[in-house]
Amino acid sequence: MMKTITLSREQVYHGNLLLVNAQYPYKDDSKKVYISLDNSLTEVFLNREAANALQLLFQKILSGDAIVPVSGYRTLEEQTNIYNTSLKDNGEEFTQKYVALPNHSEHQTGLAIDLGLNRPDIDFIRPDFPYDGICEKFRRAAPDYGFIQRYTKDKENITGISHEPWHFRYVGCPHSRIIGERGFSLEEYAEFIKNYRQDRPLICSSFSESAVEIFYVPVSGQETLLTIPKDAVYQISGNNVDGFIVTVWRNTNGQKLFGN
Ligand code: DAL
Ligand code: ZN
Repeated sequence: MMKTITLSREQVYHGNLLLVNAQYPYKDDSKKVYISLDNSLTEVFLNREAANALQLLFQKILSGDAIVPVSGYRTLEEQTNIYNTSLKDNGEEFTQKYVALPNHSEHQTGLAIDLGLNRPDIDFIRPDFPYDGICEKFRRAAPDYGFIQRYTKDKENITGISHEPWHFRYVGCPHSRIIGERGFSLEEYAEFIKNYRQDRPLICSSFSESAVEIFYVPVSGQETLLTIPKDAVYQISGNNVDGFIVTVWRNTNGQKLFGN
């Protein structure tokens, strides 16, 4: 048995896989619930699913209070303040490298988190998050919990943001693992996934007992129709540009989980 899902054009701007950068602003202004994180520098909020995953990741690596959430969800006003204050204090060159323009920050999605090693005088814009010790342990485990390091040195010309060892972005599994394994930026992943359509999806089976199918559905008109098995376990995210990324979990013998 199949069912048809109707996706509105507006849903292109919702979901874990939104690409937010200088080219594509964050457009979703719906009201959402954000979760307050423990042991933060000041009060730091995050998208609920991302906050849960982050908590599990901290528990897995036994980070205790060695890692401090420094900045998570930001309103447009907060991003504007950070941008203007940085322009005043640090100048234009620094600000363009490390602070996204208001409405172009993925912190506004609630899916991005800046983390700092717990030391006195944590820098708010560029916290220390070194490539060794507990921070590196976090970095290595992150893709298993849905997080990617968003701004790496080798992708500066693609992301338009300088190397930020402290900034992690929740995209969810298995996307985080694919991005990590293939060394993609989120910009590159958004393009890569367009090669896969429902009739020939990307199939990843190496990560768990259940195989996962991923495919791209371009937006078509005001309503895009998608037909999937009635009881499939699936997730749909807009890409913030021109379509949807659909993730369907299957068990290993090819049946859709809980499928017909
Ligand atoms: N530091 C990142 C680029 C931001 O401001 O969103
Ligand atoms: Zn950040």
